Formats: sequence, structure tokens, C-alpha cells
Amino acid sequence: MVDPVDRYAVFGNPISHSKSPLIHHLFAQQTSQNIEYTAELVATDGFDAAVADFARRGGKGLNITVPFKQQAFALATRRSARAERAGAVNTLVLHSPGDYYGDTTDGIGLVRDLIRNHRYKLCDKKILVLGAGGAVRGILEPLLDNRPAQLTIANRTRTTAVQLASDFADLGEVHGCGLNDIGGDAFDIIINGTSASLGGELPPLSPALLHANTFCYDMMYAAVATPFMRWSKENGCAETADGLGMLVEQAAESFRIWRGVEPVTGKVIETVRLSLAQPDL
Ligand code: ATR
Repeated sequence: MVDPVDRYAVFGNPISHSKSPLIHHLFAQQTSQNIEYTAELVATDGFDAAVADFARRGGKGLNITVPFKQQAFALATRRSARAERAGAVNTLVLHSPGDYYGDTTDGIGLVRDLIRNHRYKLCDKKILVLGAGGAVRGILEPLLDNRPAQLTIANRTRTTAVQLASDFADLGEVHGCGLNDIGGDAFDIIINGTSASLGGELPPLSPALLHANTFCYDMMYAAVATPFMRWSKENGCAETADGLGMLVEQAAESFRIWRGVEPVTGKVIETVRLSLAQPDL
């Protein structure tokens, strides 16, 4: 007898460039799971109804992306501790219409990409995080779990960074400041969590933030180096990365939550990288 297909999807707006269907298709192939995974464009005022409809039609789980992660948080009837901290949900397990478990895998995705794929240890490092929006809130707990020496959050709007730092002060040495008053010595790792790269922009940054071995990581990804990655290279930093590995790692954690198996990510990252240059893949 043929197993019935379990249905999953990513909900977002916009969604047409999503790599999630490709990633989950590769995971399913690798782990012999019989699933279907689609990308669904959801109207900005139609999120709750779209989730209910997908659940009614037997959908088992969803990934949630911009701009619905806070709405998914509110809609979840139960949530993981890490989702509570992040204030956002990117993974829903649909038990039945109206009964949804919410989790967030973005932060663990970033940390796994750093540790497993880039072999970068965060323990005792000086971390600078640029930005203080939803994306940054989602990565702070897993970063702090790795016991860095200190973590500075710098944001265009200073007060948001200061507030965010105080929200996470119980987890470690966290400071908030403006982009212009970062101060102090150079950092070991700088993580760009602003949405500036989306518009091809770069926050104004002093090269004094860098030493020769500073690792510059952009949570955004693109077929070519992002403005932040270009800035770091122009200022003598060899070690840069974009967030494609984070994307694949967060997907792997969602897949594990849904299917109970953890896919291997290395080859999948390579294939998705290729597909950025060849969009028809
Ligand atoms: P996300 O969910 O992607 O985090 P967000 O919550 O809207 O989106 O947050 C966007 C972040 O990028 C904010 O920290 C924002 O700074 P402000 O709080 O000052 O708005 C930052 N950001 C966006 N465009 C920027 C730019 N051109 N330069 C610097 N920071 C920028």
C-alpha cells in the first residue's frame, strides 16, 4: 500500500523566491519521507484564515516567514520556550484546526550554521549584532547559550537596542547602543541582522570594529556578496559568510520537529547555493 502524502507549506508575502520548497524536497528525498511542500502567497490580512484552511485540508505543518511570524506566535495555542523568548514563530505543527504548536528555529539555525558549517566557536568571543528587530530578537538566546564573553546589540534606533538588551540581560553580558556609539575594541564576530541589505544598503560602520580575524556574518543571503560582506572584505576581513546556511539549518530543525528525523545539511546547502545562480534549478 502506498503511504498517503503529508502536506506542508511555507506561508509568506512575498513568497515567490522562497527556497524552502527546494530545501524540504531535498530533505524528504534524503530521509525517504513521503511529503509534499509548497510555497503559498498569503494575503496580509488573511493569515489566520489561511492557516485554518490549510489545517482543515489535512495540512500537517507550516513554515512562516515575513511578515507573519508575530501573527503565527499569537495564533499558536501552545509554544516552545524558545518561541516565547523570541516572540515569534516560524514553525507550526498543525494538530487539528485551531490546535497549533508553535516553535522558532531561526536562532538554532544560525548557531548551527556557525558551529557546524563554519566551525566557529562562540564561547568567550566578543559578539556584535547589528539591528534590533524581530530577526535579532530570535537569535539572542541561542547565541547567549554559547557563553560569549559579551554581546553588543547596535541599532539605528538606539532605544530599541537598549530595550532588547535589557530583555535578555538575565542570560548574559548584553549591552545595547546606537550604530554611532558602539565604542570599545574590535569584535571577534559581527552579525548583520538589519534588513538594510534587502535594499542594497549598509548601516554606517567604522572599520575600527574589525580586527584581521573578525568573522562578518550577514543573516541575509544572495547570489552575490551582500553590501555588508563587501564592506568587511574591503576592510581586510577574509572571513565572511551570508545566511544561506542559516536558512538551510533552520529548515532542518523544522523538518526534525515535524518528521522526527534530522536531515544532513552540507550537500543541501551546496545545491541551494547553485540554485541561486541558476534560478530554474
Ligand atoms: P526583521 O523582522 O527583519 O528584524 P524589523 O523587525 O522591521 O525586521 O527590523 C529591521 C531592523 O533593521 C531594525 O533593527 C532596523 O532599524 P530601526 O530599528 O532603526 O528601524 C534595521 N534597519 C532597517 N533598515 C536599515 C538601514 N538602512 N540602516 C540601518 N538599520 C536598518
